[in-house]
Amino acid sequence: MAVLEILKHPDVRLQQVAEPVERFDAALHRFIDDLEQTRLAGPGAVGIAAPQVGEVIQLVIVDISTMKKPHPNHGHLVLINPEIIKWKGHEVGREGCLSVPDFTGNVIRAQQIVLQAQNPQGEVQRFEMQGFEARAVQHELDHLEGMLFLDRLVSRRSDLFARKVFQKKAKNRG
Ligand code: NI
Repeated sequence: MAVLEILKHPDVRLQQVAEPVERFDAALHRFIDDLEQTRLAGPGAVGIAAPQVGEVIQLVIVDISTMKKPHPNHGHLVLINPEIIKWKGHEVGREGCLSVPDFTGNVIRAQQIVLQAQNPQGEVQRFEMQGFEARAVQHELDHLEGMLFLDRLVSRRSDLFARKVFQKKAKNRG
């Protein structure tokens, strides 16, 4: 397994639209292991998307189960060719991103979603999600469209915040 390099804003490669995954083979599973290793090496990331390491395919990992403050969740999820098929409600919340290490921002997201995605074996699954998990998924799916949370701020002046503490930054950049 390997920790991969994370592309940082304003790298234009983060603006690419991801291609569907077609082969659920050993090479894909190795990549998933590397992507997970990369997520865990970062500063407490609850999600990561393949395009953030330059692999422009429709694959994200989300896991909010280890957050200090518990939220409803489905545990560790590898979501392949994911698609949101229902949205409900909306709320504002704070987001960060491994590709935008120095800032967080307030973004409006749907409060509830129904998500359809394939797992690493290619099986289609469906999830009803809410709150923080739904937010994390919407954030990661934006990466597959070449978008960052910066693109969704209502106002850069009032909704963008410099990180005061970013504990693993030195390590992360090393
Ligand atoms: Ni992100």
